[in-house]
Parts: sequence; C-alpha cells; structure tokens
Amino acid sequence: MTASHPVSAHSQQDDRSVGRPPFVSSSELERDPHAVFRHWRERTPVIQREDGACLVLRAADVEALLIDLRTRQIDGALYSRVRGVPPGPLQDLLVASLLMSEGDAHRRRRAPMSRVLAVRAVEALRDTVRSAAESLIDDVEAKGRIEDEIDLMSTFCAPFPPLVMSRLLGAPSEEARAFARWVYQVSPAFAPALPSEDMAAMVEGATRLTAYVEQCLAKAMAGEALRSDLLENMAAAVAVDTLTPGEAVAQLVTLIIGASDTTRAAMAIQVGLVLATGQAWSRLGDDPNLARAVVAEALRLEPPVGSAPRFSMEEIALDGATIPAGRLVSLSTLSAMRDPARFSDPDAFLIDRTDHTRWPLVFGGGAHRCIGEALARMELEEGLMALSRRLPGLRLAGPAPKIEGYAGIRRVDGPRVTL
Ligand code: HEM
Repeated sequence: MTASHPVSAHSQQDDRSVGRPPFVSSSELERDPHAVFRHWRERTPVIQREDGACLVLRAADVEALLIDLRTRQIDGALYSRVRGVPPGPLQDLLVASLLMSEGDAHRRRRAPMSRVLAVRAVEALRDTVRSAAESLIDDVEAKGRIEDEIDLMSTFCAPFPPLVMSRLLGAPSEEARAFARWVYQVSPAFAPALPSEDMAAMVEGATRLTAYVEQCLAKAMAGEALRSDLLENMAAAVAVDTLTPGEAVAQLVTLIIGASDTTRAAMAIQVGLVLATGQAWSRLGDDPNLARAVVAEALRLEPPVGSAPRFSMEEIALDGATIPAGRLVSLSTLSAMRDPARFSDPDAFLIDRTDHTRWPLVFGGGAHRCIGEALARMELEEGLMALSRRLPGLRLAGPAPKIEGYAGIRRVDGPRVTL
C-alpha cells in the first residue's frame, strides 16, 4: 500500500469482521474521489470518514436509501445551530427551506412550485432560456474581440442560471447582475461544509435576496400584472393560507439558489468535457438530440452535485456493513453513477451510451428529488447549443476545468477558452 493509494491504512479486515465500515480519510477522498470509490465499491457498500460520516457507494443502495424512512433529511434548525448561523434571514431561510423539511411541511412547501417546473410547463420557457444564453454570448463575443483568452465560467456559466431565474421572476434585465451577486454570496450556505469565514457575505446575500424576492411576491399578491407563473402560484398559496408569506419567500429563494451553483458547475463541466475530448463541438448547435445526449452523459460522469446528505435514524445493515444510528450519511451519487453494476465502461465519456437510467441519480431521488430537473436540462442543452452555434471555433486555452469535491455541490475552475 503506497501513500497515494486510495486505501486507508486502517485495518479493513478488523472493520469488516464487525460490519463497521472501513475508514477513508477526507484528504484521500479530496485527492481523487473516483479512485477511492472505484477501489472500495467492489469491496464494501459503505466507507466512513474520520468524522464518522458514512458514505454509501453502490447505485442500488443509494437508490434504496433515498426513499428509506430510516434516513431523514438534515434538519435546518439543527444545521444552523451546529454551523453557527446567526438569527436573521439566513437562519430563517435554512429553517423554512423545503430542502431541509420533511413530511407535511415539505409537501406544502414544494407543491406550489412543482407544476411551474414540470416538463411541459418548462418547455414553454425554452425561448426565454435561449435568449438568456444568447445575450450572455453577445458579451463573450465582445470580450473575445479584446482579449485572447476568456474565462467561460465568469462570463457565461456563472451568470446564466441566475439570469434565467431572474427572468422567471419577471425581473428587469438591469437588475440581473445584482441578483446574481446576491445568489452567489448566499449559495455556500447550502454546502456540506458551510464555510464559517464567509458568514458575513452569506448573511448579506441572504438579506438582500430575501428582500428582493419579498418585493416581487408583494407585487404578485397585490395583483400587479406580472409575467411570472412562479410568483402567481406562490401568491395563490399564500392567499389560501397553504404557506405563510415568509415560507413562500424561503421556497423561492431556495429555488433560486438551488438553480444556480449546480447548473453553473454542470455547464462548465460539460463544455470542458466536450472540448477536451474533441467530440462533436461543431455539430451540437443544430442537433438537439446530440445536445441531450451530451448533457446526460456529462451529468453522469462528472456530476455537479456529488451526494445527497441524510441522517440515519436507526442502524442500517447493507450487505455486510452496518451504518450506525445517528450518523451523517452521504449517499454518494458520484460513486453510484460509475457503478459497473449499472453502467458499462463506467469511467468513459460515451455520448452514445444506451444504459442511462430513467431517473438519473444526479438529481437525487424520493420526496426531495430535484424539482428543477427539467429546467436544468433545458438550460444545459440550450446553453451548449447556443455556444456551439455562435462560437464554432471555441477551444480550451489550457487544461480541462479542474473539478474538486465529492459531496454536495462540487467546485469547478474554468474552463479558460479561446474563441
Ligand atoms: C444540473 C443541475 C442540478 C443538479 C445536479 C441538481 C441536483 C439536485 C439534487 C441531487 C437534489 C436533491 C438533494 C437532496 O435530496 O438532498 C436537488 C434538490 C433540489 N433542487 Fe436541484 N439540481 C440542479 C438544478 C436545479 C434547478 C435548475 C433548480 C431550480 C429551478 C433546482 C432546485 C432544487 C430544489 C428547490 C431542491 C430541493 C427539493 C426538495 O427538497 O424537495 N435544482 N437538486
């Protein structure tokens, strides 16, 4: 066993003989999560980190535990307390968010947004999404006339999702930039390791974004003519007392945040994968089927979200390993989507793959399965097609984007490109 080998020095024999998951250090996981998961997945269904968190590795187990009542979502109040989030808009958001609720509260909070984000309703937004992509590419092109190399993350991938969300709220385009800034200030609050050194920025982002959304909702409740089905549905839920105004705002803010870090990372990853592997760039612009296939495969191979976090309410036995009660459980969708029991040649980027599953784990599963899946896919497809159509000569200016992290939302640096 070498220092760079993904296997921990901890004795796996001792651990497995008592059903305790073997230990793997966070630093090994950070260094090369795919190698660690590949090594352990065939040996054990669960590994644990030094902090006791249990990582579930196999596709069938991840799927089963996403709907298993012995696991539950992380509680927003507890999460805020443990992470030292001060009382105020950020704490209110975490406590009231559908992402951190269960049962009736979760259903009530989710229902008014589901219809607006269903596949057919989202299809009607395609022109809005395309025009958002096109408007950002105008700026990329303008920048390309004065600079040799461009950071596609800051010019396109990052501003695109908040721009789409601000349009869904009917916000004027001159407000989109500030809106995007607040979104990315507050979004780290939903990361698995909430970075406490950024607390002031997160609180400021939460305060400003919440105030902005409150204003939008107030207009909708006052019956002002707005072109936003999302706001109208939330206003209707408040009018019939299904949601309090504060709850409605918290769900809208969660939605905006949930839509942003995830989709920006996915966009950067997929552009990087296509350009790095030299596949199909110039054909993507007029081939929606090809774009759909690239999006699906990029999301599987390098998902922007690596896991769904849960809490074990009781002991859970899985094929020779046991997750103790009261542990943080990380359902590793990153590992599951490269499980050879589910996918042939799982480490390869194959855009003509035929073994994608109907409900891909990249969007989670069960009651909390991503509500924005249809919109995310459309943004990724339209973004890719618009870039390919308008910038057919796009090339990587350096290495493919670096993707870091294995749990929660992953971090992506780049891609830097030439036009
Ligand atoms: C590629 C992009 C995206 C990925 C990979 C992704 C992934 C996920 C995953 C894995 C979950 C489940 C979390 C859990 O079970 O703990 C989730 C939930 C959620 N997502 Fe997404 N998401 C994406 C885009 C979006 C978009 C565009 C929106 C909004 C329009 C959105 C809004 C949400 C919300 C509100 C939840 C919480 C749902 C609930 O708790 O019921 N996501 N997402």
